[in-house]
Amino acid sequence: MIVVTGATGNVGREVVRLLAGSGARVRALSRDPAMATMPAGAEAVAGDLTDPSSLAPALAGAEALFLLSGYAPEIFAEAEKAGVRRVVLLSGGSAETGDRSNAVARYMIDTEDALRASGLAWTMVRPRMFMTNAFQWLPQLRAGVVRAPWPDVPSAVIDPADIAAVAAKALVSAEHEGREYPVTGPEALRPADRVRILGEVLGREIRYEAQPDDEARAEMLTQMPEPYVDAFFSFYSEGKLDEATVFPSVEQVTGRPPRTFADWARANVERLQ
Ligand SMILES: NC(=O)c1ccc[n+]([C@@H]2O[C@H](COP(=O)([O-])OP(=O)(O)OC[C@H]3O[C@@H](n4cnc5c(N)ncnc54)[C@H](OP(=O)(O)O)[C@@H]3O)[C@@H](O)[C@H]2O)c1
Repeated sequence: MIVVTGATGNVGREVVRLLAGSGARVRALSRDPAMATMPAGAEAVAGDLTDPSSLAPALAGAEALFLLSGYAPEIFAEAEKAGVRRVVLLSGGSAETGDRSNAVARYMIDTEDALRASGLAWTMVRPRMFMTNAFQWLPQLRAGVVRAPWPDVPSAVIDPADIAAVAAKALVSAEHEGREYPVTGPEALRPADRVRILGEVLGREIRYEAQPDDEARAEMLTQMPEPYVDAFFSFYSEGKLDEATVFPSVEQVTGRPPRTFADWARANVERLQ
C-alpha cells in the first residue's frame, strides 16, 4: 500500500495514476476525498497534513509515502508508528541553497532535515519551476499579451507528470533510497521563450512584456504572504536560485527523457485555449 499526499494536485494526481496503472494499491489523500475522482485501484482517503494525527487511518499498513513539503515534522513519527518504511518527498531546488533566511527554501530544508532525522528511508525529489505555472497566464494568453517579471532568468521548467514519474519509481524500489534528485526539463527557457512556444502551439500571436519589479511585487502581494514574495525576489531578482542547469535525473530514473515545454503545451492545449 502506498499513500500519496497532494493527490488532487499537479504532481500527486499523476503519481496516483502511474502507481494505480502499474497495479499498486494506492491511498490518495485529500482534505475532501468526496470531491476527489480517482482512477481504478486508488482509494481516496481523508487527511489533513496540518493535523498529523488525522493521517493515522490513511497511513495504517502502508509501506511507502509520497509527501508534500512544508508541514509538521510529526508526520514522520506518525508514519513510522504506522509501519511506513520509505518516504519520497516533493521538495524543491531551493532546498539546495541552504538559505534559511528565505521562507520558501526554509520550509523545504526543514522538511528534508526532519525526514533525514527520522528512521525512515528517504528520497528527495527537487523539481525546478513547474510547467503548469504557465496556467497563471491564462487570462493574459487569451488577451494576447503576457506581462511577467524576470525577463533574463531562464528556468529548466519541468512537466509535473515527469516529477511524478520519478517519484513513482522511487516509491516502489529501494534503489532510490538516500538519493537527492534535481529534477529539470530538457532546456532552460526565459519567460519570453515560454510565451513564444505557447503562441506557436496555440497558433496565434502572443507578445511577452517584461513586468517591472515593483508592479510584479504589488501583484504577488495580493496572492501570497510577504515572506514568500520576498523569497521569490531573492531567487530571481538577486539570483540566489539556479534553475537554468539541466540535470539528467528524469532520464536516469525513468529511462526516457523529460518532456519539452512544447510537448506539455500540446498535451494541455485545450486548457490553454
Ligand atoms: N510550482 C512550482 O514551480 C514548484 C517548484 C518546486 C516545488 N514546488 C512544490 O510543489 C508543491 C505543489 O505541488 P502541486 O503543484 O502538485 O500541488 P497543487 O496542484 O498546488 O495542489 C496542492 C495539493 O496539496 C494538497 N493540500 C494542500 N493543503 C493540504 C493539507 N492541509 N492537507 C492535505 N493536503 C493538502 C491539496 O489537496 P486537497 O485540496 O485535495 O486536500 C492538493 O492536492 C508546492 O507546495 C511546492 O512545495 C512547486
